Amino acid sequence: KPEVIDTIDELRGQLCLAKQNVAAQGGDAHVVLVPTMGALHAGHRALVRRAADLGAIVVVSIFVNPLQFGVNEDLDTYPRTLDADVAVLAKEGAAFVFAPTIREMYPDGASSTRVTAGAIGSLYEGAARPGHFDGMLTVVAKLFNIVEPDIAVFGQKDAQQVFLVERMVADLNLRLGIEVVPTVREDNGLALSSRNRNLDDPARDAARSLSVGLAAAAAAASAGVPAAIVAAHAVIGAQPLVKLDYLVVVHPHTYLPVADDYRGPARMLVAAVVGSTRLIDNIALDIP
Ligand code: PAJ
Repeated sequence: KPEVIDTIDELRGQLCLAKQNVAAQGGDAHVVLVPTMGALHAGHRALVRRAADLGAIVVVSIFVNPLQFGVNEDLDTYPRTLDADVAVLAKEGAAFVFAPTIREMYPDGASSTRVTAGAIGSLYEGAARPGHFDGMLTVVAKLFNIVEPDIAVFGQKDAQQVFLVERMVADLNLRLGIEVVPTVREDNGLALSSRNRNLDDPARDAARSLSVGLAAAAAAASAGVPAAIVAAHAVIGAQPLVKLDYLVVVHPHTYLPVADDYRGPARMLVAAVVGSTRLIDNIALDIP
């Protein structure tokens, strides 16, 4: 069973000991961090399994970070299932679960230093959720400094988050590698998300159109960017329960929207409100 730790000092002490133990046995004392907000599902489990493959000492953080939630968002109702999460992690080879309180992470409340995400941080998810990415990067930077991992693992499901974390690591010369794990989906294509549990049956059915639309776009991408966008709209637009927020094709290196005549690798990002639940998804496109 993983050790559940709720203070920064205790985690640093235990990690120091664990590294010494592994090194004393001639093993690989690398530390791999998987940051999460808990309510773990098979998507998170895939990240932890990748972490276990990559390093000897796996730390999973579970912290519902108030800084990345807007005032009208679901901070209060976000699922908190620590006991079940620890049971899940016991099976996936995590050594430590870091589950700090809000006070431990933000002893000075909201009046402290932030990391800002730059221009891309206010597009797409950032346009819909002002301040979200600043709050996300701030807590991720803190977790990197607390755990000092050699590698941190993130899911492709949150593509813009991955882009901005990789940017932060490069821009601030952070000394770790970022590992990205493909999106884990239900059999019907729906990307796993902690928020899926808020979907009733009709909403869940309608939500499938996001992944189906993205797949249609990927198939149509050989005909160019506009054809891919039309293909996705045709699928998603047919669902009255799905209120599309954005559907955009971005350049993988800049995350700016590509021109209609763009050719090369790209990524399509989609966000929609289904019922009352906000969902996101994305897919790689190859435009020849
Ligand atoms: P959370 O939503 O709990 O997600 C934790 C990690 O799991 C993220 O890297 C996310 O991309 C990944 N993930 C979620 N669903 C996935 C799926 N279906 N397939 C693959 N990976 C998936 O993302 C956050 O928490 C927070 O912003 C955090 C980075 C922890 C900072 O607070």
